[in-house]
Parts: sequence; structure tokens; C-alpha cells
Amino acid sequence: MKLKITTLPGDGIGPEVTREAMRILEKVCALCGHDLNVEEHLIGGAAIKQTGHPLPGKTLDACMESDAVLLGAVGGPEFDALPNAQRPEAGLLNLRTALGGYANLRTAKVYPAIRACSPLRAEVLGEADILVVRELLGGLYFGEPRAYITDEADPSAFNTMRYSKSEVERVAHVAFRIARERRGKVTSVDKANVLETSRLWRRVVGEVAAQYPDVQLEHMYVDACAMHLMMSPQRFDVLLTENLFGDILSDEAAALSGSLGMLASAAIGGAVDLYEPVHGSAPDIAGRGIANPLGAIASAAMLLRHTANLPRWADDVEEAITRTLENGYRTPDIQHGSAGKLCTTQQMGEHVEHALAEVTEMKHCYHAI
Ligand code: IPM
Ligand code: MG
Repeated sequence: MKLKITTLPGDGIGPEVTREAMRILEKVCALCGHDLNVEEHLIGGAAIKQTGHPLPGKTLDACMESDAVLLGAVGGPEFDALPNAQRPEAGLLNLRTALGGYANLRTAKVYPAIRACSPLRAEVLGEADILVVRELLGGLYFGEPRAYITDEADPSAFNTMRYSKSEVERVAHVAFRIARERRGKVTSVDKANVLETSRLWRRVVGEVAAQYPDVQLEHMYVDACAMHLMMSPQRFDVLLTENLFGDILSDEAAALSGSLGMLASAAIGGAVDLYEPVHGSAPDIAGRGIANPLGAIASAAMLLRHTANLPRWADDVEEAITRTLENGYRTPDIQHGSAGKLCTTQQMGEHVEHALAEVTEMKHCYHAI
């Protein structure tokens, strides 16, 4: 089997965490005999500095020819003054559109070893395990018309939230299909008491639900959802929502797990799958070797599951992450008080690699079948 990956380390802590994710991907491919072909390209601020463009043509071409893209992060304060289309984030948004992955899967779950890092009390948090399915290519992020109107006396600006039935349908199907493999519940989040787009969203999700009688559907307003995530996170299984609500709620869900650094994501359904940790470029800690690579490594696990069709190896990588945490290794963001063995980004990657070797050795016979 051949696996062609384009890595886009990008800005801030992106390069540090991507390096560790690739360490694990290379290890898995070596262990299971996959032929891994990796090309690294520029995106975001790093690309602006070298080429003047946040998504150079060469980068896009390489991505389109890959089986999957693994991205670190984009953005940084030095680009804040640039107009939208020239910012590092425009590189990522244009890449998402070009690759076509409209369903963004973001997992937020409790790792028992770092339960104490969660801002929630253990009895509230319980075994919370949430999969956010965020619509990624529509809504306010991409809706036209949009403008910033420079008027000396009273400048104004507007954006358009727009969804079509087919856009809602396709992402809803992804959520229901995945819910079947999980605990069989979809919570669809909207603001149907105010927004027309949400009324359409709610109607279409209801129609799709009829095709999945084995999956339970509940509708929830986005403000109530923000509250329930804090008060009773265990009630959620799959949380389906539009682009901006998903951006906000997935950060909130991530915080439950103890650190934004733990969260992985996949954008699927398009021509090429895109994997990225949910955390941003974190410019304040970039280059210091203290960033948490586990979100990036967990994104590599998602790549193994969804693109490489190696679900058992994906399970193994996830188990290796759990073991590493159980063995007490901690980057600063997941260190509660002075507990645990503090380690660098690279050491964390090495510990996961080591744990992966143990896990796969244990299951040697199983994988050999
Ligand atoms: C995310 C990020 C991006 C988004 C930014 C960097 C454009 O916040 O992936 O959640 O808003 O989608
Ligand atoms: Mg975000």
C-alpha cells in the first residue's frame, strides 16, 4: 500500500507539533509495511513571508495530488493588520474549499489520567466523549455578499450566513452515519428561534433523521448548548452544527478535556482529506519546545482511520496516547499542579512512539492476521 501525504507545518507551534505527528505516522507505516511518501509545503504566515501568498500554487497542487494533508496551524499577530484575503487564515480557508472536506470531525473526550486538568468537577465531567461534526465550507465564513465599508464618519461591515438544503443534508448524513458507530445520538445545534438559516437547518436535519430511525435526534439552540456543555457534557454524543457555531463550540468542548492541545480534527467528504489539530498557532509559546503534540498525533490517528483505512493502527496510536498520559508524561498545558513528569514537545512524541511499540508488540499476533 502507498500513502502520499503533504505536510503543511505553517506558523507558530505548527512545525513543532507536526514533526511529532509525522514521527508517529512514519513509525506506523514502517511497522505495517506501508510505503509513505511525504512532501512538506508552505502555508499561512510562513508562505506569506517566502512567497507573498498564504496559499502558494505549488502548495495547493501538492495537496490536490495527495491522499491526505496534515496541517499544523496558521496565523500570528504580525499579520493582524492585513486585509482578510491576504491573512494567513485565508490560506487555510481557501485550502479547505479546494480540498472539499465539508464535514469537520472534532473529538473531545476525557483522558482519565488528566481528568484533574478539566475545569469541570469530576462528577460533572464523568466519561464525557463528544464528537463535534462542524459544517466547514458554508455559513458566515464563505457567504456572499460580504464587505467592510470604510466610511470616515461611521464605518460599517456585513457578512452573509447562507446555507442550501444540499449543504445541510450532506453533513447531516455524515453525523448520523457516525452516530450509528457510537452511542446513537445526534444533537443538532442551531438558532432556529431567530435565524432563517437555522430554520432550514432544523428542517433538513429532521428529514435526514427519518432515514436513521435507529439514531436519536435532539435539536438544541446554540446558547443552550454552550450551557449544557458545561453543566452536563455527558448528555452529548454527536454534536452537529454549522460552521461558526462549530468553531466556537468545539473550543468549548475541547476545554472540557483539559487542554485545547489534546484535540484532533479531520475534514472529510471532499477530494482530499485534511487533518489538523484544533489548537491554533499559539505564538506566545512557539519555538520553545513546550507545545503539546498530542492533538497533532491524534489527528494522525484520524488520518490512519479515515484515509489510510488502518482503523486498528489508529486505535493503537490512540491507546499509545492514553498510555503515555497514564505513565505520567506531561507538557505544561496538561500539568496539574506539580504532578507528572514534565517533558518537551519532542520528548512527548518519543514517549508516544515508545508506547506505540509496546502496544503493537502486545497485539503482534492480532495485527499479523
Ligand atoms: C479552527 C480555527 C480556524 C477557523 C481559523 C484559524 C480560520 O479557528 O480551525 O477552528 O475558524 O475555522
Ligand atoms: Mg477555531
